[in-house]
Amino acid sequence: MPEKTKHELKTQFIGKKILFLKDTPSTNDIAKKLASKGAEAGTVVVSEKQSNGRGRLGRRWLSPEGGLWFSIILKPRIKPNEVFKLTFLTAVVVVRTLRKKFKLNAQIKWPNDILINGKKICGVLSEIITNPSGLINFVIVGIGINANIELNSFPKHLQFSVTSIKSELEKEIDCEDLLYTLLMELEHYYLLLLDGGFNLILEEWKDLNCILDSYVEIERLDGTINGQAVDVAKDGALLIKLENGAVVRVISGDVILKRFDKTH
Ligand code: BTN
Repeated sequence: MPEKTKHELKTQFIGKKILFLKDTPSTNDIAKKLASKGAEAGTVVVSEKQSNGRGRLGRRWLSPEGGLWFSIILKPRIKPNEVFKLTFLTAVVVVRTLRKKFKLNAQIKWPNDILINGKKICGVLSEIITNPSGLINFVIVGIGINANIELNSFPKHLQFSVTSIKSELEKEIDCEDLLYTLLMELEHYYLLLLDGGFNLILEEWKDLNCILDSYVEIERLDGTINGQAVDVAKDGALLIKLENGAVVRVISGDVILKRFDKTH
């Protein structure tokens, strides 16, 4: 963290313990190790940079100094197929925070990308550890935000598809303050989720998304689907209406926006 200002964290359990690291392969991996050794729910691991940051679908996540890279250990009583709810709520929290704190026009692209004007600024990677009976022991929610990063520190081929808070605002932000704001909001939404409020979170997710109603192309391991994104189901699947009128469910893949039908 560049700034060492004292910030106030008003939470019940998220962030009561925060491990600040200078450099680590991946905060998700450290959080997993801590959780398997019995670390409390709400423990947070932050690193100034990551040498082996991991993204969705087994991809690498570039994590130079200046970004906000952190992971949270959670132990919700949910089934493995409900973990997407944590990813959705995290995306809602990040978008709300970027909008409120910095007036940035952030939006969610299914399933968990945060974009500004079509460029990725944040990604969320939720990973679970289950016990032998298939129940969740804990969930690690990893969040990567391109905060104080110069775009030219990304490889050339990414420079048109990513952005950072610094590049959008043309100034550096206080990462520790952003972290604390996110942890407070995350706890609020997490408690809402545990209280049966997922429908409210899903409605907010839909309001903040940039793909519903649009024509999209989905790249999947088994081929490409083209159609209109018409809805997101209660289990997190994206519903795509094909040209022949059939609606297919997509549970994993990369979405490419073809044409916006929604005015934002
Ligand atoms: C994505 O592919 O969009 C998800 C990216 C998630 C990156 C974050 S950075 C903190 C945490 N540690 C990791 O190795 N990955 C996540």
